[in-house]
Amino acid sequence: MKILDQRVAVVTGAASGIGLALARRLAAEGMRIVLADVEADALEQATALVCADGADAIGVRTDVRDLGAVQELAARTVEQFGGVHLVCNNAGVETGGSFLEIPGDAWKWVMDVNFYGVLHGCRVFLPLLAEHPEAHIVNTASVAAFATGTATMTPYCVSKSAILSLSECLAIELQTSGSPVGVSLLAPGPVKTRMPDAERNLPADITPAREPHRVALMEELRTKAAHIGLEPDEVAAMVVTAVRDNSFFVLPHPDMALAGVRRRLHWMETGELPAPRRAGT
Ligand SMILES: NC(=O)c1ccc[n+]([C@@H]2O[C@H](COP(=O)([O-])OP(=O)(O)OC[C@H]3O[C@@H](n4cnc5c(N)ncnc54)[C@H](O)[C@@H]3O)[C@@H](O)[C@H]2O)c1
Repeated sequence: MKILDQRVAVVTGAASGIGLALARRLAAEGMRIVLADVEADALEQATALVCADGADAIGVRTDVRDLGAVQELAARTVEQFGGVHLVCNNAGVETGGSFLEIPGDAWKWVMDVNFYGVLHGCRVFLPLLAEHPEAHIVNTASVAAFATGTATMTPYCVSKSAILSLSECLAIELQTSGSPVGVSLLAPGPVKTRMPDAERNLPADITPAREPHRVALMEELRTKAAHIGLEPDEVAAMVVTAVRDNSFFVLPHPDMALAGVRRRLHWMETGELPAPRRAGT
């Protein structure tokens, strides 16, 4: 998608972190923006920020778990801006624990937001995107899609692997059928966002696992992101380049992603059992 100016972008999970950085960066490219998020107050502030940057933007409170809400988001977008050219299915959450300590509802929450949220976004927006000569979908996964096995993060890894597979299948089908819609997969490692506090949106009736090693791991991830994490606007800039170049993989931390793929290839070729990552990989 070469031309962004005056075109319309929808970004989910836009009230914070990578989504907010994407909204601001796309606005700086001249796009009109629809910010969508489940957190009403944060969404209002984020929308005000994007408008203060000089952009034409609206916020639409949306829970991406809900197909009807995503359909409503699409309807509001068309009503406000007449169409949509770019959709960033970016909203994501994380909760986990040791396998048998993870409540079934916690699994469902992660899969509903991370996987079904992306699926709803692709299914609802694809027909609208395909009305234009060029359009694009960006799905946010994670290096967790390639580098599985981070202790206590199994639901997150599963959901992000599903986004990888969905996005690859969709990209291949669209390309084969000559569709004008391109697809990119954003798969970052640590980024300085509120992701370590994702359980702030956990439904009240779900009690998350609180085992000591889970708490310690989350603290470690928090520290790691604070020290070696990229800034969200660095990631947003990479996404804009990928949209313009029609690149599939957007890998802000290529070494982490490739190491994960190589480890799996090694297990497949040698028959060795999957093993935890060594420190620093
Ligand atoms: N931060 C990282 O280190 C990192 C690494 C890899 C991948 N990611 C992915 O990046 C994406 C953005 O996360 P972030 O890091 O900016 O975290 P963040 O917590 O700062 O932002 C996530 C946003 O998603 C929103 N959200 C949560 N549930 C929602 C729902 N049901 N419907 C709509 N919006 C919802 C939150 O309110 C929040 O505004 C996620 O998909 C995450 O998995 C983040």
